[in-house]
Amino acid sequence: MCGIVGYIGDKDAQGYLMTALHRLEYRGYDSAGIVTIDDGTPTVHRAKGKVAELEALTNENPAKGPLGIGHTRWATHGVPSETNAHPQKAGDIYLVHNGIIENYRDLKAELKDHTFVSETDTEVLAALIDSFYDEETSLADAVIQALQIAVGTYGIAVASARNPDEIVAARLGSPLIVGLSEGETYIASDASALVGYTDQAVYLKDGEVVVCRRDGIEVFDLASRPVSPRVETIEADLQSIQKQGYDHFLLKEIIEQPQTLRSTLNGRVDVADNLIKLGGLNMTDDELRGIEHVTIIGCGTAYYAGQLASYYLEQIVDGLTIDVAIASELRYRSFHLPKNTVALVVSQSGETADTLACLREIKKRGVKTLGIINAVGSTIAREVDGGIYVHAGPEISVASTKAFTSQVSAMIMFGITLAQARGINNEDISNYIRELDQLPGEIERVITNYQNEIPSIAKKYESYDHALFFGRDTLYPVALEGALKLKEISYIQAEGYAAGELKHGPIALIDDSFFEVALLLDNWLFDKTLSSLSEVNARGGHIFAITNSKQNIDAETVLHVDTNLHVLAPLVLNVVQQLFAYHIAVARGNDVDQPRNLAKSVTVE
Ligand code: M6R
Repeated sequence: MCGIVGYIGDKDAQGYLMTALHRLEYRGYDSAGIVTIDDGTPTVHRAKGKVAELEALTNENPAKGPLGIGHTRWATHGVPSETNAHPQKAGDIYLVHNGIIENYRDLKAELKDHTFVSETDTEVLAALIDSFYDEETSLADAVIQALQIAVGTYGIAVASARNPDEIVAARLGSPLIVGLSEGETYIASDASALVGYTDQAVYLKDGEVVVCRRDGIEVFDLASRPVSPRVETIEADLQSIQKQGYDHFLLKEIIEQPQTLRSTLNGRVDVADNLIKLGGLNMTDDELRGIEHVTIIGCGTAYYAGQLASYYLEQIVDGLTIDVAIASELRYRSFHLPKNTVALVVSQSGETADTLACLREIKKRGVKTLGIINAVGSTIAREVDGGIYVHAGPEISVASTKAFTSQVSAMIMFGITLAQARGINNEDISNYIRELDQLPGEIERVITNYQNEIPSIAKKYESYDHALFFGRDTLYPVALEGALKLKEISYIQAEGYAAGELKHGPIALIDDSFFEVALLLDNWLFDKTLSSLSEVNARGGHIFAITNSKQNIDAETVLHVDTNLHVLAPLVLNVVQQLFAYHIAVARGNDVDQPRNLAKSVTVE
């Protein structure tokens, strides 16, 4: 949430800051700003709206100077406006900030020498730093003194016209990375802003403060003790963060699922030997055998991936009990986990604040934690005891698509690993392994076969105000995910329901302002779901049915999806839903990659 960038080197900072802000825009896009410092003279540009608005200002009036910091914002305190945009200024201090300063009201009341102009907690932190920044105190010391008092979460970068040779940055609960290059140092809240500039990076840890200079960095803890930074190599490449000719990142990310899923499965699914091989769990066979309960946590799409995986895990491992929790709920509950539990922590970004907090709560209870994470090197990936990187590559569009498919597949592989450790090797398991192996090809086939048909179906439903998604068993979480995808990018109010629940309330909603997406699998529950369709039809419903069955279905529109898969067919039907939501959002003229009010990677509670 929000993007931070910074540069100190031998070139004008503005060029890098603007490129990097464009790359981080998916993290927040209601306002943006930069400050550059040229020989002690600061130039500030800030604009309400997207980075393009800021760019118009910087093109008109380029800012000089080899040092600068920038920000793209997702509002927490104060409306999106130029005044509330970052950098926030107080005295000699310019500050960009991700996170929330929780005690900002108390601090503000004490900072009587500063006249506050914005509604932000960030200006309060800037004023606090400025209150310590005098002739005897270095910029880094002023930042450290302020951070000892501030309560909350932050990723920050601080610049001052009085110190044209340093940027000070710090993190607590909000990611920050420093990129190192000959004569240049970069700051970014996301590795994608460093790709193409440097692959050498230091991921700051919570409670670390870094002084960035042209020729390198020094890292301290909040007690001003020096810390030795660990330099790591960033593996992302430029292609993976570009649209590559697609109209939107969302479309690219849906279409590239066959390849990204292959990366999830490669080297792990061995059909010839009927085996799943997972490195990285950091658990012995004995420990795996001993697991009796799995708790899965996540938010949004990651939570729905967990829900879907829970159906599979209980089918794969006889006797295993599973619960799935929304991280933002579980973290505040007095929860107890049974003995011999392992927790699967699911997150695309690996930075979601609630998921991270929940992980820490689980660890406090002495429970083993495994990450199902996409972003390599992210905070959650670093804090779990082990896990499975899903390797789906950077997901830029706010709506999560390819991560879902890879997360579910990774959790299925985990389930099979548990079964293997127990010596279970039956026909069901072989079938899962075979279907996992075929899944990328099947998704590819479905995209090829139906990508021309889905836009015309979307056209038919684009102007409805409400939608109801329903399915049974594994298709219930798929219905929830379908509804989430549609609502977040099309702004059509959409709900997902278990088909059997319709008659317990939601069927009262059906009228001509609604359409329904019915999901059906050609299995033992087919006829039962057909009954739900009949009940909806009897009330004048407008059903779009998506099914792998060849049987006749009484619905306004039916898409018979031709797939060889059975147990994993829900993941294929989900891709159809993803394309459907995408084309509705496009038809409605929405900004599909950056839907209103949202941001990728929710790093505040
Ligand atoms: O990065 P995470 O997987 O932890 O993100 C969780 C949710 O914020 C995310 O899935 C969100 O719901 C997406 N916008 C859904 O498309």
